[in-house]
Amino acid sequence: MKTNNKLIVMNWKCNPRSTIEASALAAVSDKKGVIICPPAVFLHIVASKLKKASLGAQNGFWAEGAYTGEYSFNQLKNIGVKYAIIGHSERRFLFNENSQIISKKIISALAANISPIVCVGEKKRTSISSAIKTVIAELNNSLIDIPKEKLGKIILAYEPVWAIGTGKNASLAEILPIISAIKKNIMDLSGKKIKAIYGGSVSPENVMEYVIDPSIDGVLVGGASTDKQKSAKIIDKIRNI
Ligand code: PGA
Repeated sequence: MKTNNKLIVMNWKCNPRSTIEASALAAVSDKKGVIICPPAVFLHIVASKLKKASLGAQNGFWAEGAYTGEYSFNQLKNIGVKYAIIGHSERRFLFNENSQIISKKIISALAANISPIVCVGEKKRTSISSAIKTVIAELNNSLIDIPKEKLGKIILAYEPVWAIGTGKNASLAEILPIISAIKKNIMDLSGKKIKAIYGGSVSPENVMEYVIDPSIDGVLVGGASTDKQKSAKIIDKIRNI
């Protein structure tokens, strides 16, 4: 099997229900270049199964102590987590995480040596120019207070909210200008190159459209990542580019 540098982030969200199912799912996706992000309750069991894939968290908190229900990035680091999804639209909108909260989480993840996978994306389908404005504003607000020299350690996930979980994936033509604006923005801010990936209804049928483009460094997969057959197909296709 060939290898390349494309990242495949598997965001299981609040799935599956049992440890047995989580283990089976992890076994299918345990391939080089894959970052498996199970719910926190399954991080330990998934960590114990992985030989080739990396472990990612879907969240994390910036402090330790009297914060019932939370877990810190340092704690995540100590159980083998290497990446953390931060600022996913479901956290922004369902759990009221604003850019200040997201910025604090990014700083804390970086301090714990965890690579943040920072999600940004416009809510509604609009013109490309207006989407670029919205996304860059959201990005810069989320990166406030982050030392410039650390920006290169961030992975950016461009996820138009209208494409998440809807089956209406964005076309390559729609995302290229936005990915390029994101990369240019970070280059202008810090002189660093970053990896930028796409997320939003990625499936075995459409994944190649994105990953064959050299400027797209991978994909963030939600729904399809909890289906063993779909996950296996997505990984196979990308690894054989
Ligand atoms: P989806 O989710 O693949 O189900 O659209 C992507 C995401 O929320 O990150």
